[in-house]
Amino acid sequence: MVARFHDARDSFFERRLGMFVHWGLYSVPGWHEQELWRKGTPRREYEKLIHEFDPVLFDPDKWIDAAEDAGMSYICITTKHHDGFCLFDTKYTDYNIMHTPYGRDLIKKLADACHRRGMGLGFYYSIPDWHHPNYPNQGRHHQMMGYRAGDEPDEEKYFTFVKNRIEELMTNYGPICQLFWDINVNEWYDPSVNDHIRELQPGIVINDRGPGPGDFDTPERKIPGGKEFSKPTQACSAFGRESWGYRIDEDYYSDKFTIGSIDKILAMGGTYLLNVGPKGDGTLPEENVRSLHVIGEWYRKVREAFDDAWPASYMVDDDHIVISEPVIRDRIWTTRKGNTLYLHLPEGLNSTGLIVSPLHILPEKATLLNNGQELRCKVEMTPWHWHDPEYLHIVGIPVNEMQNEVMVIKLEFNEEVFA
Ligand code: GLC
Repeated sequence: MVARFHDARDSFFERRLGMFVHWGLYSVPGWHEQELWRKGTPRREYEKLIHEFDPVLFDPDKWIDAAEDAGMSYICITTKHHDGFCLFDTKYTDYNIMHTPYGRDLIKKLADACHRRGMGLGFYYSIPDWHHPNYPNQGRHHQMMGYRAGDEPDEEKYFTFVKNRIEELMTNYGPICQLFWDINVNEWYDPSVNDHIRELQPGIVINDRGPGPGDFDTPERKIPGGKEFSKPTQACSAFGRESWGYRIDEDYYSDKFTIGSIDKILAMGGTYLLNVGPKGDGTLPEENVRSLHVIGEWYRKVREAFDDAWPASYMVDDDHIVISEPVIRDRIWTTRKGNTLYLHLPEGLNSTGLIVSPLHILPEKATLLNNGQELRCKVEMTPWHWHDPEYLHIVGIPVNEMQNEVMVIKLEFNEEVFA
């Protein structure tokens, strides 16, 4: 069972779905948020983008509408990515939004709207910096190849600069629900930084990529093995396969794939942070808005299987439907609320039936949450499972109609069954 904090941080577990936002100068060329490092664009060229970044169409309410449409309860935005450019007003560097043609603090604008609309707000902050003269770029991963004329590499000065800016972020924008540190290339260790953040923002949760022990794990673009997390976990992924920042001609994951990933992580007791990459003009790509809507349509139908429910995959085996090599399984994730079990089928179903071993009791009712259809159940020995005892067998599942859906089946048992 996922460990709880037993303090104000437990609100983390209520924020099941969040919108991750990667936005910055890189959104203008629309290649990748790390184009300096991965594409080798010269810094002097890249940094000219500060004169082009002018997101006149940015309307935080539209972003919040899209997040709400998907059933998300918070937004976590890149206040500063590896390139060093800040979307917020800061007195510690001019490489920030106030020096673009736009000239207004975007983080402030987003924060005000989130607080007004009751949308949680989290900040992402990347530790490396490809712009700041004190950052010791030494050609390690996620670093520039070396120094520029005029650079004064100095870790101590650099981390004072980071601390000052974190202080700005933690004091100037109202309540912040989470801090997402990224890529601690320098292996900077100073737990007092997170301690100070907790003083400034009581109840904040901090991830595991920063200068001290964090509150939650952050598997990225992957589904960890097993069917239940033992530690608080926030998985993150993006709509785009290639980039987190806006990318022209992005390869988008299918809705089914994204929804299946969300379903698995949530059924394992985790939370999910799903990234959008706004364009340089401040609008969300149409493709992101469309997918958010599709996710919301699914999530609204099945969310009772997550809210206040616990991972319970230990109660149910996968269904081995072919007893020859290779063995094909219908993989089942399970959540539970009292005597109600929810069977999740994020990898689809290979036939119209499902054997739910080792259960051998009939539920009072079985419902496919996706369309409200009641399903028939039996407890029986079947020809394929003739060596096995009698198990719960759900029949007549409309697999062909549900090809594009991630199915969740609700089984309501008599009160005493799991007492
Ligand atoms: C990876 C990417 C980085 C992105 C982060 C989000 O570390 O390299 O660009 O910001 O994932 O978690």
